Amino acid sequence: MRTQVVIIGSGPSGLLLGQLLTHAGIDNVILDRASKDHILARVRAGVLEEGTTRLMDQARSGTRMHAEGLPHDGFSLAFDGRDHRIDLFGLTGGKRVMIYGQTELTRDLIDRRQGEGALSIYRAANVLPHDFEGGAPYVTYEGNGVTHRIDCDFIAGCDGFHGVTRRFVPEKAVRTFEKIYPFGWLGILADVPPVSHELVYANHPRGFALCSMRSLSRSRYYIQCSLDQRPEEWSDQRFWDELRRRLPAHHAERVVTGPSFEKSIAPLRSFVAEPMRFHRLFLVGDAAHIVPPTGAKGLNLAASDVHYLFEGLLEHYQDRSDGGIDAYSVRALSRVWKAVRFSWWMTTIMHRFPDTSDFDQKIREAELDYLTHSRAAAMALAENYVGLPF
Ligand code: FAD
Ligand code: DHB
Repeated sequence: MRTQVVIIGSGPSGLLLGQLLTHAGIDNVILDRASKDHILARVRAGVLEEGTTRLMDQARSGTRMHAEGLPHDGFSLAFDGRDHRIDLFGLTGGKRVMIYGQTELTRDLIDRRQGEGALSIYRAANVLPHDFEGGAPYVTYEGNGVTHRIDCDFIAGCDGFHGVTRRFVPEKAVRTFEKIYPFGWLGILADVPPVSHELVYANHPRGFALCSMRSLSRSRYYIQCSLDQRPEEWSDQRFWDELRRRLPAHHAERVVTGPSFEKSIAPLRSFVAEPMRFHRLFLVGDAAHIVPPTGAKGLNLAASDVHYLFEGLLEHYQDRSDGGIDAYSVRALSRVWKAVRFSWWMTTIMHRFPDTSDFDQKIREAELDYLTHSRAAAMALAENYVGLPF
């Protein structure tokens, strides 16, 4: 088989790129090692920047998102038993975010792709990129016990942090940067109304907590936990009790409890691989970088990478110029590092670190105090949270 672009990974970055390419008349095939059902069952992000919602529209997949998503104009920082609202809309001159689950966004993109008859191959085993440093790259994979080969012009590695493409980049050609945080997030989903109409990010001596949502009747809650814990150790009752302890009283009183139907622990990590292009192979989204979830940036960064790569590929095929492809890594990384910085900063001020000195704790308190008393500081937070321009 031959196509123009092989996309490895059917997560948000692979699917968005696939849709944009298809609509521009650029042939592409998506390969994923997981099944479609598995992909559609994954629960992850929930906050979309305006740039991401624009890309969903550009991918002609935004109709349900606009109908069912919840635009949010602000969120709350809770500490010292009180709430401090960050007025995103007012502080950014009219920008907001959209609450819409990554699961739903993925479903919309998969449905659209299927409806348009573009090719996705699920359960593709042993997917391998070949010869991307030469002029004739190809990808092999196994299906039904047979090895298949797809020749192409370019390979897009959209296969997440644990994917295969980054591992095939020559060691000498790549530099990685990493920071591991000494805690994780225990998250649950439950069909109960959210505690507040906006998100609440809480810093409490017992640890961080986040009250988020997927709709007006479905809540997504997270609490900071230690890395040696397992979700099975957390009964629903234990989770609800701990969540309430970490919220200001007026929120704690309003927590509606119910059975959870998803419970998992995510470790927190910052990671960047540089560069993001190796001749005819590109790293996109989580395959190239990971941020701790505190700033809600991971999915949105995947989307901005797709924007830059799509522009480059379009220029290559339509204008016969490689300027955009050549600039991809530098353009993407410039935005990536700012989001890495923001996510690290928000993680640092909102969590309790096991080894915090009294000095570090005082600095954290001063930072929160400054944020809630200085419009300039709040503006910087809001500008980053709604997403820096592409
Ligand atoms: P992925 O979604 O990881 O997709 C990669 C795909 O590649 C998968 O389908 C996988 O099956 C496939 N694959 C992997 N290996 C192979 C292989 N060898 N061969 C073939 N296919 C392969 N981000 C936000 O912006 N906002 C948030 O609010 C937010 N909250 C989060 C909360 C949690 C608890 C977590 C865990 C993450 C959160 N994120 C958030 C991050 C966000 O989910 C990721 O950044 C996003 O999924 C990245 O998309 P991606 O397409 O690059 O990678
Ligand atoms: C969600 C996840 C985040 O990491 C975040 O900062 C806000 C919301 C969520 O899953 O809803």
